[in-house]
Amino acid sequence: MKTLWCLLVAVVTIHGAFGVDRNNFKTCHQSGFCKRLRGFKPENSEYTLDVNSIIIDGNVLIAEVKTIDSESERRTVLWNYILKLSALEDNTYRVELNEKNPLYSRYVPQLALQRDPRPDGIKLVSKDNEKVVVINTQGQKVVIIAEPLKLEFYDKNGEVALVLNENAQLLVEPLRKKKEQYDDEEGNAVDGDEEGTWGENFKSHHDSKPRGNEAVSLDVSFPDADQVYGIPEHTDRFHLATTTSGDPYRLYNLDVFEYELDSRMAIYGAIPVLYAHGTKRTVGVFWHNSAETWVDVVNYGDSTVVSSLVNLVTGGQKHRIDTRFMSESGVLDLFVLLGDTPADVFRQYTTLTGVAPLPPRFSLAYHQSRWNYVDEADVRGVDDNFDAHDIPADVIWLDIEYTDRKMYFTWDSEKFRHPSEMVANLTAKGRKLVVIIDPHIKREPGYFYHEDATQNGYYVKDKDGKDYEGWCWPGSSSYPDFLNPVVHNYYASRYSFDKFPGTSKDVHIWNDMNEPSVFNGPEVTMPKDCRHYKQPEDGVEGIGSFWEHRHVHNEYGLFYIRGTHEGMLSRAPNYRPFILTRATFAGTQRYAAMWTGDNTAEWGFLAATVPMCISVAISGVSFCGSDVGGFFKNPDAELMTRWYQAGAFQPFFRAHSHIETKRREPWLFEPATTALLRDAVRKRYALLDFWYTLFFEHSRDGLPVMRPLFQQYPKEQATFTVDNQYLLGDKLLIRPVLEQGVTLVKVYLPGADTHTLWYDVDTYQAHQANGFITQEVNIAKTPVYQRGGSAVWRKERVRRSSALMLNDPYTLVLALDENNTSEGTLYIDDGETYNYKQKIYIYSKVKYTPEGITYTFIDENASYPTRSWVERIVIAGIKTPPKTAKLHQNEKQTALLMTLHKGNDVLVIRKPGASMAKPWKIVFSY
Ligand code: GLC
Repeated sequence: MKTLWCLLVAVVTIHGAFGVDRNNFKTCHQSGFCKRLRGFKPENSEYTLDVNSIIIDGNVLIAEVKTIDSESERRTVLWNYILKLSALEDNTYRVELNEKNPLYSRYVPQLALQRDPRPDGIKLVSKDNEKVVVINTQGQKVVIIAEPLKLEFYDKNGEVALVLNENAQLLVEPLRKKKEQYDDEEGNAVDGDEEGTWGENFKSHHDSKPRGNEAVSLDVSFPDADQVYGIPEHTDRFHLATTTSGDPYRLYNLDVFEYELDSRMAIYGAIPVLYAHGTKRTVGVFWHNSAETWVDVVNYGDSTVVSSLVNLVTGGQKHRIDTRFMSESGVLDLFVLLGDTPADVFRQYTTLTGVAPLPPRFSLAYHQSRWNYVDEADVRGVDDNFDAHDIPADVIWLDIEYTDRKMYFTWDSEKFRHPSEMVANLTAKGRKLVVIIDPHIKREPGYFYHEDATQNGYYVKDKDGKDYEGWCWPGSSSYPDFLNPVVHNYYASRYSFDKFPGTSKDVHIWNDMNEPSVFNGPEVTMPKDCRHYKQPEDGVEGIGSFWEHRHVHNEYGLFYIRGTHEGMLSRAPNYRPFILTRATFAGTQRYAAMWTGDNTAEWGFLAATVPMCISVAISGVSFCGSDVGGFFKNPDAELMTRWYQAGAFQPFFRAHSHIETKRREPWLFEPATTALLRDAVRKRYALLDFWYTLFFEHSRDGLPVMRPLFQQYPKEQATFTVDNQYLLGDKLLIRPVLEQGVTLVKVYLPGADTHTLWYDVDTYQAHQANGFITQEVNIAKTPVYQRGGSAVWRKERVRRSSALMLNDPYTLVLALDENNTSEGTLYIDDGETYNYKQKIYIYSKVKYTPEGITYTFIDENASYPTRSWVERIVIAGIKTPPKTAKLHQNEKQTALLMTLHKGNDVLVIRKPGASMAKPWKIVFSY
């Protein structure tokens, strides 16, 4: 493989070094607008609102804003803008500021929002020359101060929750024409514009910047906030750090080879949503912009922020955080999420950008991948070995080598001669295949995709309007312009079974390299002055008739997976597609799961999986995982074990590895390790229905599946900075072992003020929540606790794949709270079709009280003919065990057998035999 990638690997190997080459990526100083904007610190904002211009139209307040030259006595107007403040459903406001008459239209992301946001009402409360006050229907107040322009958003108690332009960093650089050169006093020709306005260089790359500077910026202050979160994807800790020393957080989708830990550098994903949390409230902002973006954070409570700055800015108040968004282009477009709890803001964000639809059940099971399973015999061997070693698996993955020389939608005709038979072998055991399809297209004469794209003008163009050519896995490649609806349709149609022979509804798709990755491009991506399709506008020609890559960069990968999604739906309309993406943007969750890319088999990378996945989860993308075992390098048995154990409790559970690593399927380790890996995978399968229910509930309420502790315990300050544990729904607390060689770990058990109990799921031992406990962890142990008051459904008969377990019986684990009650939910359907939209499913609630247990349907008009039944009920934490238990179902009563496991206060009801297809109850007597 003569790719630059391999050359890079070779170079790294020769030098013996490992890790990111920072020289390939810009610092803020090397990014023209970031440097310019970070240096922009006016004392007062030049932006002024004309109070007399205000119009209220439906849910929107519209006003004229001007920039005024404060130096000039005559208050010269520099530029004219239009401000819009819209009140939206679910306690959300939108603030837009655009030029009144821009030279060309400025880009607004096209796919991030799931639909036009739904309006709420807005009412003018008062207006004078200095300020305007409005409220929404929730009574939530916004005060607009006219000069200098500032917007204050109030919470429901009438306190300021969030302020825009407090620090005078609002800026929308007007689009302009090139100024003539002029002669200075010495007669030298001088450019009329600031240096760098019309072009800048990075390494050997020149960016021609045909529109000149067009940046936007805004500061957002959060009074009373203790921490801010979000703006993934970074490898830094979960709660964001103060950026006064070093660079801001960068959002720019990039393929960073051997990315480093604890870094604010950009990597594959960019989701511009940020949340501020304190004991008083939670609020958030969604910065609706797809251009390169940098975000500065100053947390006045951080020890790194010097007290003179704290005093100067906040008068000594340490509970305050200031942030600032800076983007290279676009309009200023910001959504304010008014909370006021963490769950409220997370939901408000998914109300805007959408939820993940219910995934096919298999996708929540275990996935086995490697770059590469080399041929059909290899796939067969791996598949068979799972059975031989009694390890369940649902999916085998094929990386790029399955294709004919990296031409997607083809097969290597030597190594994969019978793809349909290969797939049929897998599906016979209920397994699936996932194949990779990348966006870059090999420039190979005769390759249908390349021919079609060339002839029909489907490729992204370079700055001169020719097909852009870059270098990627296939060598010389071009990149389809998925912004063009014709290209989108063409690409989607490639997934029809007749056009992609060998595939079936059981073949799902992995979309990689969609940042997009261009090995020889600036920062390993596409030049910013490349041209994309823009919907034609009457009378607009030249520069205004296309978008530059600069405008759309972070959204390109989303356009791509949207095409895949559409293609998979058209090929098999009643089957839920599964797609994995590497690049992310706001809205990704509507189409795909994501993973954290090319990590390394080192302990730090295992630990990073938790903050990375909870950051994307609160940013809408719950379906997150990492390459289990680490992509680069070879994990030893302990690291491999701990990674499987951690992965088993993260939403996307896939082992994957680099082509040059040693083979590491679970049976290739010592038998003792294989047994531990088997045990981890089996734990996942036992809880699959729990996972499936969580994803179903996410599709309804938009809340993260994998949750930070502060979501459920928002007043408990100690939870604000916990990022080595998390919750699954509101029921299980996971503290994976992320450290080498430990026999003890500290676990924080939240909920002391509500007397929460946490039951160790392995022993049913109850711990009273009271901060940190020390937990013993031998190599087989993953600390997982079930919250007292919750019910969890399990399946204990683990089989070869999840499909084979569909009708297996359930074990119900009831963990009692201090009031001797517990409850939980369960979702059941066929696991793969859209029949649930026809009410063919069961969504049920189970409730335990000392009188008995009831199993009822939450959605009473839905049903599903499941053959599953209840095999066992475990009641943990029972204080007064009943003498008898009777099952009532279908007008029949059956006496049940119980055993008490003394000491642990655990009562087991053996074989209740209740069918899950109909409601039932169990009545106790004492
Ligand atoms: C990228 C992906 C990695 C994959 C490789 C080959 O590096 O991140 O997972 O194995 O490309 O396709």
